[in-house]
Amino acid sequence: MADRKPFIAGNWKMYKTGPEAAELAEELKKLVCDVNGVDIMIAPPFTALGTVYEIIKGSNIQLGGQNLFWKTEGAYTGEISPSMLRSAGCSYVIIGHSERRQHFGETDETISKKIRAALDAELKPILCIGESLEERESNQTYSVLDNQLERCLQGLTSDDIHNLTIAYEPVWAIGTGKTATRDQVQGAHSHIRKRLKEKFGILVEKSLRILYGGSVKPENIKGLMSMPDVDGALVGGASLKAESFAGIIRFND
Ligand code: 13P
Repeated sequence: MADRKPFIAGNWKMYKTGPEAAELAEELKKLVCDVNGVDIMIAPPFTALGTVYEIIKGSNIQLGGQNLFWKTEGAYTGEISPSMLRSAGCSYVIIGHSERRQHFGETDETISKKIRAALDAELKPILCIGESLEERESNQTYSVLDNQLERCLQGLTSDDIHNLTIAYEPVWAIGTGKTATRDQVQGAHSHIRKRLKEKFGILVEKSLRILYGGSVKPENIKGLMSMPDVDGALVGGASLKAESFAGIIRFND
């Protein structure tokens, strides 16, 4: 029997200064303080991690980073290490977001190193994968997902899988207002689960959470969550307002 607790995560991307982030975190905390059947995470920009952590620590909201570098420390100007994220209060880290692949040269190879480094530092990675519109239209969705999974997760063991979350984010649905249909999402998620079960075994069925990301809103979350392989959402735009993000978190109310 699966015991995959729903997981709703907010990716704030490059939005919110320190004071703005503090305000949003305060508001959100009030709106969701009584929720206990859902894991909740927010990933503010690096500059706001400390401020936000002070607000949410001890609450039911966890903190995540949006990226990391795989080295422990060193002369790597502009980078953030896994232990820096840990000491800022993070328990999760988003890795391989399509915006990082598109604008910052992230590849499956660098993503694989980042996942290993996150796990070694006891941070739970959220690996983002997904196809472009062109790839979907030419029926390559599942082979693209297979390749990304194969390369990004190389070298991992079944034990590692316990701390991993996958976010299926079709590139064409991110920030566009176009949500993938429930059937498209379920199809991709069940394909991902099947592949990872073949590779890592039964634990994948029981505990690997697969989130959907791409124009998730309070209006469409319930339908998405009704699909058997959808375990939660990675939310961009709608996580920037406390009310809409709380509406997504409270999908079951
Ligand atoms: P939107 O919810 O704004 O489409 O962004 C999704 C996303 O990229 C989450 O990581």
